[in-house]
Amino acid sequence: MTESRFAAIVLAAGEGTRMRSAKPKVLHEVAGRAMIGHVLDALAPLAPAETVVVLGHGMESVAKAVAPAAVAVQDPPRGTGDAVRAAESALAGTVDTILVLYGDTPLLRPETLERLLAARKEGAAVAIAGMRPADPSPYGRLVEDGRGGIARIVEARDATPEEAAIGLCNGGIMAIDAAHAFGLVRRIGNDNAKREYYLTDIVGLARADGLACRVVELPAEELAGVNTRAELAQAEAAMQDRLRARAMEMGATLIAPETVYLSADTVLGRDVVVEPHVIFGAGVTVADDALIRSFSHFDHAEIGPGAIVGPFARLRPGAVLEAEVHVGNFVEVKASRLKAGAKANHLSYLGDSEVGPRTNIGAGTITCNYDGFNKYRTKIGADAFIGSNTALVAPVSVGDGAIVAAGSVVTDDVPDDAFAVARGQQVTKPGRAVGMRERLRGKNR
Ligand code: UD1
Ligand code: MG
Repeated sequence: MTESRFAAIVLAAGEGTRMRSAKPKVLHEVAGRAMIGHVLDALAPLAPAETVVVLGHGMESVAKAVAPAAVAVQDPPRGTGDAVRAAESALAGTVDTILVLYGDTPLLRPETLERLLAARKEGAAVAIAGMRPADPSPYGRLVEDGRGGIARIVEARDATPEEAAIGLCNGGIMAIDAAHAFGLVRRIGNDNAKREYYLTDIVGLARADGLACRVVELPAEELAGVNTRAELAQAEAAMQDRLRARAMEMGATLIAPETVYLSADTVLGRDVVVEPHVIFGAGVTVADDALIRSFSHFDHAEIGPGAIVGPFARLRPGAVLEAEVHVGNFVEVKASRLKAGAKANHLSYLGDSEVGPRTNIGAGTITCNYDGFNKYRTKIGADAFIGSNTALVAPVSVGDGAIVAAGSVVTDDVPDDAFAVARGQQVTKPGRAVGMRERLRGKNR
């Protein structure tokens, strides 16, 4: 194979001061996934020979999030050039290109990285991702040499007014010839406004050695770096647009796409219809032909083919609705499987339970799954009928074909085909209301 091999270094050690957060910046989420997870996802299809994530001191949470990628620690964080240097000893094999990425660019796509690697293969010692964002002010500017190459990069804070007027910016990704990369990085100094070792200085150094540095202009939307909460919100909006477009391309109808929030891993089948104002948390799949009605909220749940869910339904982790299940308004389902054709149409809580096929759960039914210390399961068989306002005190089971009367508090198992009623018996006294009314009226005078 003559395929070139590259190693990826993802920088994530920065303090992210501008986020004003106790959490490392790259763990802030976009569409339910950490920013650095998006960067690693964009890398994956390119199959890097190895990947090293550079972390700051005490960022075990980041190490955990990026596993199985190797990690290197940069302590203290002294700039992006210094961060690349910190990764050197973590690289094991021989590669011909070092691809440096920043962990705060969640909108990157694999195709974009491929274009940069292609430019590197065509002979540039350093291929730089360039972009022309609407607002270039926070970014490093690429100073062109007038002969199709880049002479150097100047950081925003160090730019002269003429340099600040340059629209072509550093998108933050570089593909560097591995034969030169670390030699160049070691020569970076910190004589600048932030007293940091800027990776961007590598370009001027490479040029001084007579090496070719080229820019590849890539979509600014994908290279947007997130440094503040406002930029995080912009990245979220851009990602949502992308996910909505993808869901519709795959054959789902979103009646008002701008009101539907998806996660990076949301899967919507063909002919799924999503009404306005639905939130898909992480880990949700919806099979073909399901109807998702307004104001529903899902999280780690599976919705089967032809199911009808909502409006105002809440599916929590472990909710599995099989084919044609109906879950209606103000119904919450957690860690429960509703088998094919089961219905829970109104005002219920089903937790740690199993509901058999075609069984009907009456309005207001609650599985009492928690005694304050432990959780217990409720098992309901096929073709059963649970009357309205039933409390099922787990652990408890209701057999196939059983009927439970409305208002029951079920504490004992109900066998197959049994009828159970568990409530105070009604006492009716004919005509008694007349006398009562007279007495009560008298009191009012
Ligand atoms: C950087 C670039 C800038 C570019 C912009 C694109 C430099 C000097 N500047 O600026 O030219 O236009 O990205 O978004 O590279 N990091 C470390 N260790 C450090 C410092 C940073 O690992 O010591 C990591 C951060 O965690 C972050 C990434 O490097 O993921 C970029 O750092 P950041 O501070 O966001 O750089 P920018 O100011 O955005
Ligand atoms: Mg940044």
